[in-house]
Amino acid sequence: MSITSLRAGIIGTGFIAPVHIEALRRLGVQVTAVCGSTANAQATADKWGIPEIYGNYDYRAMYASPNVDVVHITSPNKLHVEQALAALAAGKHVVCEKPLGMNAKETARVVKAAAKAKTVLAVNYNCRFFPAILQMRAAVQRGDLGRIIHVQGHFFQDWLLKDTDYNWRVLASEGGKLRAVGDIGTHWIDAVSFILGAQVESVFAKLETFHKRRKRPRGEVKTFAKVDPKTMVSYPVDTEDFASVLLRYDNGVHANAAISQVAAGWKCSLALGIYGSEASMRWDLQQPNEIYVGRRDEPNQILQRGTPGFLEDVAHFTDYPGGHPEGFPDSHKMHYRAIYEHIASGRKTPLLFATAPDGHHEVKICEAVLKSAAVGKWVTVS
Ligand SMILES: NC(=O)c1ccc[n+]([C@@H]2O[C@H](COP(=O)([O-])OP(=O)(O)OC[C@H]3O[C@@H](n4cnc5c(N)ncnc54)[C@H](O)[C@@H]3O)[C@@H](O)[C@H]2O)c1
Repeated sequence: MSITSLRAGIIGTGFIAPVHIEALRRLGVQVTAVCGSTANAQATADKWGIPEIYGNYDYRAMYASPNVDVVHITSPNKLHVEQALAALAAGKHVVCEKPLGMNAKETARVVKAAAKAKTVLAVNYNCRFFPAILQMRAAVQRGDLGRIIHVQGHFFQDWLLKDTDYNWRVLASEGGKLRAVGDIGTHWIDAVSFILGAQVESVFAKLETFHKRRKRPRGEVKTFAKVDPKTMVSYPVDTEDFASVLLRYDNGVHANAAISQVAAGWKCSLALGIYGSEASMRWDLQQPNEIYVGRRDEPNQILQRGTPGFLEDVAHFTDYPGGHPEGFPDSHKMHYRAIYEHIASGRKTPLLFATAPDGHHEVKICEAVLKSAAVGKWVTVS
């Protein structure tokens, strides 16, 4: 079966939904249905030429469509588990946005359902599919860096720097109790786990809420939308703006990461360095086509995507030659290529994408981070 014979239905019409739609279109996958508020589902269908429209957030009606094979869940976090469980029960494949759910108790239900299902469930940790991340993973697996000693990095953004910056993620009831770590820190943790081929075993965390109160508009706001501050109301903030996290992996590697959504000037900097006994590799999502290789006794190098030294391990997940940058939208495209090929092959291709157990583990890490910040001690990921 070719991936172009699979048909996708999208739940949600906000910031990330069009990223899914566009990536699928670039792969030749048909997007046959969209579900959201009645007005937004209609507008999205009009814009992208999607034939089936499911308003009133009626995802169950979309699941009844015979023209949808794979459901993409791009709704807010608190809806993921309910919508994923119903999709599996309806016999659909699922690509669920991260996080998989709001707490480990509910994501454990998805793990169980996904294990029984005949269909595939993937969690959208798309950062795995930047060619540089795949390249670093291959280098670590081959032993190019020697024995891995430690990992260091950050995920910094500034879109919530001001107290008038609002999004549903700021509210624990909508996005989960951990915001910066849950929303972007988990991308960092997942990418590092993927590169190392190891799982986080324990964490030590310090959380900081810079704005104890923020102002918000009265209605729903699309991510990154601007609103007039004069129309806003004040509310207490129950999620963190910043986190400093130490992580111990089950292969003995130690990592530390700073996570912030109030770091002026940083738009989307997921930066990490893998330090080994022979060499190190550093990468930043804001310069996604280059890896910096550090050596003590030889000159350092910059590896460029699409040139020798970068190509062979990642050839299937990069489409453009060197000098023609690939970035965030391409990582989604490559991620869906891996998922759809896995489905189309009858699960025969390598399982590179994050599955329900991976999504569940990320939620357990978040719970351990919260607990560690509360008790001021190392906490084992249960
Ligand atoms: N992988 C990534 O890089 C990435 C990036 C951004 C967001 N995300 C994830 O995607 C999800 C959505 O984030 P966003 O930034 O697009 O948010 P958003 O607020 O811009 O969009 C959310 C959409 O969900 C819709 N929605 C609300 N209630 C719904 C319901 N009951 N049923 C169906 N749809 C409903 C809203 O109308 C809106 O269209 C989040 O879980 C977020 O963590 C992932």
